[in-house]
Amino acid sequence: MIDAMPPSTPHEPPARPGEFAPVRIGPLSVWPPVVLAPMAGVTNYPFRAICRRFGAGLYVSEMITARPLVEGNAKTLKLADFGPDESPRSLQLYGVDPYYVGEAVKRLVGEGHVDHIDMNFGCPVRKVTSKGGGAAIPAKPRLLAAIVRAAVRNAGAVPVTIGPL
Ligand SMILES: Cc1cc2nc3c(=O)[nH]c(=O)nc-3n(C[C@H](O)[C@H](O)[C@H](O)COP(=O)(O)O)c2cc1C
Repeated sequence: MIDAMPPSTPHEPPARPGEFAPVRIGPLSVWPPVVLAPMAGVTNYPFRAICRRFGAGLYVSEMITARPLVEGNAKTLKLADFGPDESPRSLQLYGVDPYYVGEAVKRLVGEGHVDHIDMNFGCPVRKVTSKGGGAAIPAKPRLLAAIVRAAVRNAGAVPVTIGPL
């Protein structure tokens, strides 16, 4: 059974007020400046809910693939879910095609589903890079620019970062 209380950290006292500045991501002020990084297959809602008790400022979802999201794939939609208590809602989006990335962002933002979008351009796993995704995208700077442009153009006031965070 998981303890109701986070473990104490006897050697590291909590940060004093003002010791660290918040991290600003567009309109978001992330406090404390500690982020649960996106991890595919790991940082889903139940995992984020467990981590939330440890007091980070931002918890990024696991990687959500743009195309199945646009096509309404039930499993992808479920993975993209947030809990009612999650704020800000940070989602990592993965895509290799600017069209699907743009449409996915339009949908996520249009439905008011997210407060922050992080784009995956750092995943080194062969399964991902062999399809030209993740860390393989920056090797094609024009494609990288097109994907980022498609995301930002459709994001409105929702800030877009590129990862790894
Ligand atoms: C199991 C696992 C899955 C990961 N999946 C992703 C991912 O989907 N997207 C991503 O941008 N980074 C992914 N990462 C990288 C992490 O987000 C993070 O950048 C990396 O672990 C370095 O942070 P650390 O030094 O705090 O471990 C993954 C890392 C691990 C260990």
